[in-house]
Amino acid sequence: MADNHVGDANVSDAEQSTVEDIKRRRFITGITAGFGAVGGAFAVTPFVMSMSPSERAKNAGAPVQADYSKIQPGQMVKVEWRGKPVVLLKRTPEMMEGLNIVRDKLADADSNSSVQPEYAKNDSRSDANNPDLLVMEGVCTHLGCSPVEKLAIGPDPQMGDDSQGGFFCPCHGSKFDLAGRVYKNVPATTNMAVPPFKFDGDVIVIGDDEGRA
Ligand code: FES
Repeated sequence: MADNHVGDANVSDAEQSTVEDIKRRRFITGITAGFGAVGGAFAVTPFVMSMSPSERAKNAGAPVQADYSKIQPGQMVKVEWRGKPVVLLKRTPEMMEGLNIVRDKLADADSNSSVQPEYAKNDSRSDANNPDLLVMEGVCTHLGCSPVEKLAIGPDPQMGDDSQGGFFCPCHGSKFDLAGRVYKNVPATTNMAVPPFKFDGDVIVIGDDEGRA
């Protein structure tokens, strides 16, 4: 049996497949439990996927559910819906203030040209009963890359010296605020989309807003 070569070590086929398994598991974990936080480390949050439907249902566009009550202020988690990452970001009071500070720099501050349900067409692009919680498709509206979260308030090489936090798209440099609203003079021209959603106790249902109060 031919040996494979990984780094400086010769390993057998069986060992190689174990290495590949571990790499694959890490990749899956990275997708389903991605998170960001301001000012400190939070534990990875696998709970966001524990209530999700089967792979087949997800591919068909079925709603997904997550226990949003465990998301801490300043923390962001991602869930997958219709093959797209959906950001759940619980914003701090400082982050909410920043939404007003950057208003004049935005291309579509009132979300008139952007996609969101009517109940999220407001400055924070969120439900009035949970204004801190941003629920947003993490997909750049230019050509579909995944913007990187820039949650810290303060100077940032991509977001600028007076950054109030936001999202930066590494593909062509589009910038968005912490409500997913796009800045002026970048390639993207509309805000990142907000999917339909509703709450059921501690659970958020993404992809379905029927029966919403
Ligand atoms: S895809 Fe995001 S800036 Fe082009």
